[in-house]
Amino acid sequence: MTPVETIVESRQRCEQCGTTIGELDLAPACPQCGGLLEMVNPIVESAVALRARFAGRRAALRGPDASGVWRYRELVMPSVQPSAIVSHPEGNTPLLSRAALSEWTGVEDLLIKHEGHNPTGSFKDRGMTVATTQAVRTGARAVACASTGNTSASLAAYAAQARLPAFVFVPAGNVALGKLAQTLAYGAKTLLVRGNFDACLTLAREASAALGIALLNSINPFRLEGQKTIVFELLEQLDWQPPDWIALPAGNLGNTSAFGKALREAHQIGLIDRMPRIAAVQARGAAPFSQSFQRGFGERIRVEPDTIATAIRIGDPASWDRAVRAIRETNGVVTDVSDAEILEAKAVIDAAGVGCEPASAASVAGVARLRREGVIAANERVVAVLTGNLLKDPGAIVKYHQETEPAPARANRPIEIDARLSEVERVLELTRT
Ligand SMILES: Cc1ncc(COP(=O)(O)O)c(C=O)c1O
Ligand SMILES: [Zn+2]
Repeated sequence: MTPVETIVESRQRCEQCGTTIGELDLAPACPQCGGLLEMVNPIVESAVALRARFAGRRAALRGPDASGVWRYRELVMPSVQPSAIVSHPEGNTPLLSRAALSEWTGVEDLLIKHEGHNPTGSFKDRGMTVATTQAVRTGARAVACASTGNTSASLAAYAAQARLPAFVFVPAGNVALGKLAQTLAYGAKTLLVRGNFDACLTLAREASAALGIALLNSINPFRLEGQKTIVFELLEQLDWQPPDWIALPAGNLGNTSAFGKALREAHQIGLIDRMPRIAAVQARGAAPFSQSFQRGFGERIRVEPDTIATAIRIGDPASWDRAVRAIRETNGVVTDVSDAEILEAKAVIDAAGVGCEPASAASVAGVARLRREGVIAANERVVAVLTGNLLKDPGAIVKYHQETEPAPARANRPIEIDARLSEVERVLELTRT
């Protein structure tokens, strides 16, 4: 066994100055310097024992063991009592391969980890089950988040399950329809803020500090603990043989940070014997992290964000420093892709019968770009993470397929007909030619 460090209980530790506070401490940031907090969990078992424990739970049909998050709870929240867990359940998402996507990206051994199969349709559920459990454990009276839409949908669902009032701050006019609909349906108080995501996060932070509401954004360390399980689960699906690359879309950089932490811990514990490289992919109109990467991360960059991929329409990512660490420790790369590349990748993913929301397609568009540039080799194994479900953003889909000026190359235009058999025959003829 290679212990991460000799600790006997989980602590929250400041990433800037190293100050530690208790696991149940409610401070939203380091009380000494205001830095972001991360969880440090004691590791009490060997890699062999952990693998066997995780595998043994796979057959569970109900309860925490049936969750693709809580199955790994020794690495997520070891101190939790199973009865305290607020779980849908979530996780257990498939690892797919599709010839059409391998052909389009030029990467034969491309696997797709589809997080859109989570209960509210995005990877956010993995972090939210943990953050909500923690909110209940610490006696929170209400929960809140700023969101580009998916976090709010997820928070709304888990808060409803835990019977906690929920407040969400989303940018007015820039939330995809499916996400807004979910948030309203699950019953969260939905505040449409006249401003972008960055303004929403600032306001949510102020409001939670002033009004004593638990903030469940990905600056909350418990969110990242849950999101780590995307990596644990995909590694387990590969029998703990790490792929060469893991590609994911990057906005506020919470997920990039969680992936880095998961890989660091899996490596330290001995669950894997080498580190995959992370490829974080931003939308070109919201690419401060990618721009900074090109300059060796010399400076932190902020931009006015603009992209069709509203989930990653973020100009001042909150988890910057820990994402830099994730890229450095995995010898990773950051790239950016245009909206046209994102939409084309999405059309290919959708037409392969897989489907995802626009931001998710950035990961596959990024893989294609990195392959063209020779950064990813043709024979390498790549896992691309699709972060959200196809139905999250129906507006973007309908617009793409009905656009006429100019019609996108992969558009599948609907055809209006009279209710006559001859009309159907005419369409069939057109399809044959
Ligand atoms: C579908 C989707 N993909 C990617 C991201 C980006 O994740 P992060 O903000 O952790 O970088 C988000 C965040 O909202 C999202 O909803
Ligand atoms: Zn500190």
